[in-house]
Amino acid sequence: MPDMTEDRVCVVRVEPANITIRVKPNESLMAAAERQGYHWPTICHGQAVCTACCIVLEGNAEAFEPPTPLEKQGLQLLAGRSFYEGKVVRLACQAHPITDTSVTKRGVRPASSSS
Ligand code: FES
Repeated sequence: MPDMTEDRVCVVRVEPANITIRVKPNESLMAAAERQGYHWPTICHGQAVCTACCIVLEGNAEAFEPPTPLEKQGLQLLAGRSFYEGKVVRLACQAHPITDTSVTKRGVRPASSSS
């Protein structure tokens, strides 16, 4: 019997840009956004060491697969930053959505745009 989750695409709304990203299975949110022509803030380009890609989850904290040890290590770099206190934060370069959801990430924009 085929795995029905195999071709499940998750739709992630990114605010405040009001952008919708379609994320394929086993694809990170940042990779999906870049594939669809968006600039996503990053310094390390997906190595989980810069935290520039981090997102704040809105609503369902279970909308992403649990963080891997690598992502947890990267998230520790954000510890103590008051802006993120009390919020559910993930690294978009590592986080894989498992359902449709919304996140907040400033700086996401069409790659061709300079603002
Ligand atoms: S892109 Fe650097 S930590 Fe995600």
